[in-house]
Formats: sequence, structure tokens, C-alpha cells
Amino acid sequence: MNKLCLLSLVIGLASQSAWAENATTGVGAASTLQAKNAFIANLMKQMTLDEKIGQLRLISIGPEMPKPEILKEITAGRIGGTFNSVVLPDNRAMQDAAGHSRNKIPMFFAFDVVHGQRTIFPISLGLASTWDMNAITRTGRVSAIEAAADGVDMTFAPMVDITRDARWGRSSEGFGEDTYLVSRISATMTRAFQGTSMQAPNSIMAVVKHFALYGAVEGGRDYNTVDMSPVRMQQDYLPPYRASIDAGAGGVMIALNSINGVPSTSNAWLLQDVLRRDWGFKGVTVSDHGAIKELIDHGVAKDFREAAKLAIKAGVDLSMNDKAYGEELPGLVKSGEVSEKEVDNAVREVLGAKWEMGLFANPYLRIGAAVDDPVDRNAENRLHRAEARDVARKSIVLLKNQNDTLPLKKQGTIAVIGPLAKSSMDMLGSWSGAGLPRQTVNAYDGIAAAVGDKAKLIYALGSNVTDNQHAITYLNKMDDQIAIDPRPEQDMIDEAVKAARQADVVVAVVGESRNMSHEAASRVDLVIPGRQRELIRALKATGKPLVLVLMNGRPLALGEENELADAMVESWFLGTEGGNALADVLFGDYNPSGKLPMTFPRSVGQVPAYYNHLNTGRPYRPNDSNYTSNYFEEPTSPLFPFGYGLSYSQFSVSDITLSINKMTRKDKLTASVMVKNTGKVAGETVVQLYLRDVAASISRPVKELKNFQKIMLNPGEEKSVSFTLTEEDLKFFNPSLKYAAEAGEFKLMIGLDSEDVKETTFNLL
Ligand code: BGC
Repeated sequence: MNKLCLLSLVIGLASQSAWAENATTGVGAASTLQAKNAFIANLMKQMTLDEKIGQLRLISIGPEMPKPEILKEITAGRIGGTFNSVVLPDNRAMQDAAGHSRNKIPMFFAFDVVHGQRTIFPISLGLASTWDMNAITRTGRVSAIEAAADGVDMTFAPMVDITRDARWGRSSEGFGEDTYLVSRISATMTRAFQGTSMQAPNSIMAVVKHFALYGAVEGGRDYNTVDMSPVRMQQDYLPPYRASIDAGAGGVMIALNSINGVPSTSNAWLLQDVLRRDWGFKGVTVSDHGAIKELIDHGVAKDFREAAKLAIKAGVDLSMNDKAYGEELPGLVKSGEVSEKEVDNAVREVLGAKWEMGLFANPYLRIGAAVDDPVDRNAENRLHRAEARDVARKSIVLLKNQNDTLPLKKQGTIAVIGPLAKSSMDMLGSWSGAGLPRQTVNAYDGIAAAVGDKAKLIYALGSNVTDNQHAITYLNKMDDQIAIDPRPEQDMIDEAVKAARQADVVVAVVGESRNMSHEAASRVDLVIPGRQRELIRALKATGKPLVLVLMNGRPLALGEENELADAMVESWFLGTEGGNALADVLFGDYNPSGKLPMTFPRSVGQVPAYYNHLNTGRPYRPNDSNYTSNYFEEPTSPLFPFGYGLSYSQFSVSDITLSINKMTRKDKLTASVMVKNTGKVAGETVVQLYLRDVAASISRPVKELKNFQKIMLNPGEEKSVSFTLTEEDLKFFNPSLKYAAEAGEFKLMIGLDSEDVKETTFNLL
């Protein structure tokens, strides 16, 4: 039975009669703004101050509060919503409890649905590597359908923090370094989560995060300070959040970091001036986990009471998993330090969000009726494997393919080696709380399924993922355990070398465990950790063709591996169908088309590394190092630039043709190239358009992505690819923060990555 039928069934069921009053009010009313406002105003009139404050509390289902206490608190009207439960009967019990509260205000249930719910798709950095908005839409839709089926109403996603520092563990969670690409994905993902209507039983509300600038934490160290010029903020870092809001995101999660000394959680400029006044945001704001009390550690609140006061006054509606609002707001209102109106403003947004999620009309909209609970609690038969496999293979980026080492033939003996080769847990990546390792295809199993009995596989672990005891102790405390084989590392390397010698080709699956690319998992180095690098050297020394399959959640410094490997594949963490998707690429059943959404530096010392930097007065020139802006031990250019990725096809790009080369502010300029597949197999590539404003009132980046198209070409086929530019594409924030285009010369570049471009110029009159 689908959820629509459930709706009528649920309303009809006597067991939920506790809801009759509110449910009818909601269902009967047209879903207009007026009806919503009137309904909420009327409801608020009936609420006591304590009940209002209760609505502002968002509680985690976890060790912090035992379940019976949560139910008691809900019945008493002291909790507005919970997160971290994907168990239907548990969510239903909580909703039942709300039905017995005085005002019968429905609960909502949230979860971090970041790259899938039961079916796990590639981590966000992998999704971004697809440069494919259909793939992103499918991921978001499937995630919403599966999450809604778990009784989840709201996701804390998309995470759209721009990051230029790969040391930051949460790079894995975002969509990379580029404002344009991340903004496109941000809007697409938001629409996909929310569907045609947020009130649909298979839609969930998107809460875009982390507002704002969390990806710019100093030194890539999680939760660290952000200090940034207003121009850079407006130009590079804020647009992706706005894109989600413009696409209709119902909520915004407030970042944990401070911005120029003011924590986001107490930042009235950010939450009122930027978000509500300038951007017209009408939804609910949610603090991050425990962020209100952290205002004390930030050093802007002297105690809990002041923290609560600062947060509510700044515009934080929901307080996530701390007691700040519950304990402190009653006293603050009583003393007059916080007005009831300020509390009302927050309550109105929370109730508004519940209305938007369709919960007043039907509190069981997503939970459904108990009789319809699926028998396969773990969604064994409800996974979207085909979708996940397709998106996963699109996420894979081919970094190197010397002498056409890839695709491999399904024959002979293949040695599959490495600490990640048989890890299903790691394949899921970070933020995949409802995904199950046992439902996940690891690299070895995917390769084995692809070759069947056509080829022989030999396996060896080769090394542990790391032998750094400090790292192991730290990471094991945070999350799942890193699997450690107690044998001496050299024995494992020897065993792997023996296996490699018996094989025709070696596939080494190496990189990071998933908890190394996670919240609170910042690194001081970007090389492949532990003894894995020794393993790679030893494998190379066997003389067998060496294919490196990388699993990691951030750009790594791969200089040495790039020298040693015959082929190198960036697979990120691919999700439930990872092994199958990987095998599709390795054996040529799918021609790789992914492109990097983040620059891969040569060394950790190069970060922040990003393609759209300013030129400086002494720009880096590969052949002129005399007092220019560079590092002296190695080339300053990246190892793999933003937008880079190979294919089993080769493509050529013609010179650029412009429709006009002098453009007025009313004109549309069309830039075209011919792209040809000069290879032997059909393949997709991403044609990328970059612009540079040559001389402006403020120094402008050497190039900025302005558009792209992903195209499929058969061998020998040639297609014209055209982009249309208007004045809008030439605008930027000037030193007075005015967003405008300035007359003058522009460089226009088109190519297949950010460095390999054709170039021409035009003028804005
Ligand atoms: C993270 C958020 C997440 C929240 C709830 C926090 O630690 O920073 O991104 O949504 O937890 O799980």
C-alpha cells in the first residue's frame, strides 16, 4: 500500500483518535500561506510559555536521554522534534505521545540523510564528481523516498560548505571547492529531497548546512575559527547556501564556527541581516549539535543563561540536543531579558516547518500505520541498487591510465590487494548511519562477481590502513573501529608481494578508512596513511602492471603513487553498490566520466589549493621561479587540477567561436566549440566554461567556472557545444559589496578541465 492510501487510513483509524482535532483542522484547510498563518496564530494563542519553549527543543535519540523519558517529555509538550531514529515503531510511539499532549502538536523526526538512507550512494565529493544533475536528482529522490519510509520528515542536508583545504575531514561531506558547481548541486539536491511538495508522503524537508563558511576553518582543523573578507564570503562561500534557499529549502542549520570573531550561533548579522533580510529566508533555523552551550567556550557568553539569550536573540529557532532553551528561556522571559515575542518568532518558524512538512494535516504522513510496517526492517528487498550502481560508477574519476592498462580483461590471474579491498564498512563512507555493511558490495566482491569463473582472483591484505597508534586510538574513540591485523606489517607486505608475483595484474585498493574522512577527523598530512605506501612500492617492484584504486574522502597527495602506478582510479567511498560500480569501470563495462570537484595538490604544504585563486603581483610561472609566488621544492601547480578526469575515449576540443566579441549589457554572447571523440569507444566528458575579468576594480580570479555540459559521443562523433552568457555571468562583488559587471576585457576559456583549455577574449561595453 502506498503512503497516499495510508493517509486516509490513518486518519480513519480510531486508534489515532487522539489526533482528531488537529488533524481535521489541518486537512480541511487549504495549504495557503493565509491558512497556515491563521492556523499557527490560533494554535499559539492556546500555548503556554513552557509549551512554546518545548517546541524549540530538538532532542537526539541516543544515550543522552532514555526513551521512556523522551516519551514523557513529549507528552508534557517539552520536545518539538527528535533526530537519529529511523525505526518506524519508535517514531510512531513518539508521535502517539505527542497526540496525548495538551495541544496535540505533532513531532517531526530528523536524520542526517546525506548521501542515501538505506541505499547508500557515493559520498558527496563523489556525487560532485559526476557533474551530472540527473544523477544528483536520482540520489536525492531515492534518499527522500527511503527516509520517508523510515518515518523521517527532515534531513540535515545538503551540506554545501565550500572547502579549499583537504585536511578538513568534512571535505568528504561537501561538494568540493567551486562555488558554481556546489551551488548547482545544492539547488538540485534540495529540490530532489523536497520533491514536488514537501507535504508529499515521500518528500523530506531539506535543512541546508552549515551556515556559514564552515568549510573555511583555519588549517582545516574541525570547528576552528573562520576569518574572512566580506568580498570572499559573498563571492565564493555564501552562494551555495543561498542556492538551496532559493530552491525552497525549508531549514538552515547554523554552523559551529565563528566568523570574524562572532560565532554563527550568536550571529545576528548572519541569521537576520543576511539570511532573512537580504535573502528572504522564511523557514526554520536549527542550531548544530550542542552549539548554544558552546557559546561559553567561544568566549561570548559567560554562562548557559547568557548563551541561550544570545542564541534566541540572534535568531536560532531550534536548539539541537542541549538544555539551553528548556532550562534558561523561562527565566529569561520572566526577567524580561528575552521578550515573549522573541520566543514566539522562533516557535512560529518551528510550527511553520511542521505545517510545511504536512504534519498538522497528518502526523503519520511518513510513519504510516503499524499494520503496514514492512517486514524487512532493514529494507533488504527495498534497496535501490540499480540507481546506486549507476550513480557510483559515474562518480569514479580515472586519474591515470598509462599504456591503456585499463580496462582490464576478465581473464588470467588478478591479485586484489589492500586493506580496503574487502572492507564493506569503509565502502559506505561517512554519514551513512542507516546503511549496512552486510548489504554493501566491497571492491573484492564486485571484482569477483564481474569476472565469475573467467579469471582467477588472489587476495592479500598487504598492510593495515594505518599503523599510527595515536590515530587508531583517536579514531576508534570517535566512530567504528579500524580493523587492525596484528601480524607484523612486513609479513603482510611479503604475503602481498607473493600474491602479486603469481598474478598477471595487481589491483591495490588503498587509501583511508571512512572514519578518517569524517567530522572531527582532520589530518596533518595528505599522503596515503600507514605502511600502505611501502606496500605500493613493493608491489611495483614485482614488475606487474599496477592499478591503484583509491578510497578516500578528500584529495590526497599522490605524487609518488602517480609515478609508480600504471593506472589510478579515484573511487571515493562509493556506497552500497560500490564494488559492482568499481568493477564496471575496471573492466570497461562503463567508461569513466567523473571529473574532480577539488584540486589534488602535490603536497599538504600547498593547501589551500584551489583553481580559482587570484593572480598575485608575481604569479607562479612554471619556467620562471625568480621571486615569483611559489614553493621551491616542487612545482607549485596541482598534481591533478579541478575538473580533471580521464576516459577510455580521447576527446579533442576545437578553438572557440564567439557570436560577438563586443557585448553590450543587453546582449547574449554565445561561445561554441566542436568536441570530438577521437578514441575507439563511446564516452562522456564534461565541457567546462571558465571566465576571467582581466582588469577590474578588485583583483579577480585567474578563472572561474561559469557553466558546463556533460556530453556523450560515439567514436569519431563530433558535437557542437554552445554556452550562452549574459551580463549576469560577468557580475561580481566589488569592494563596496555591490554585485555588478564592469566594462572591459574578459578571457573566455573552454576545455575538459580547469587547466587544459582553449582561450579567447571579448569585451563588455
Ligand atoms: C554535525 C551536523 C549534524 C548533526 C546531527 C553535528 O555534529 O555537525 O552536521 O547534522 O551533528 O547529527
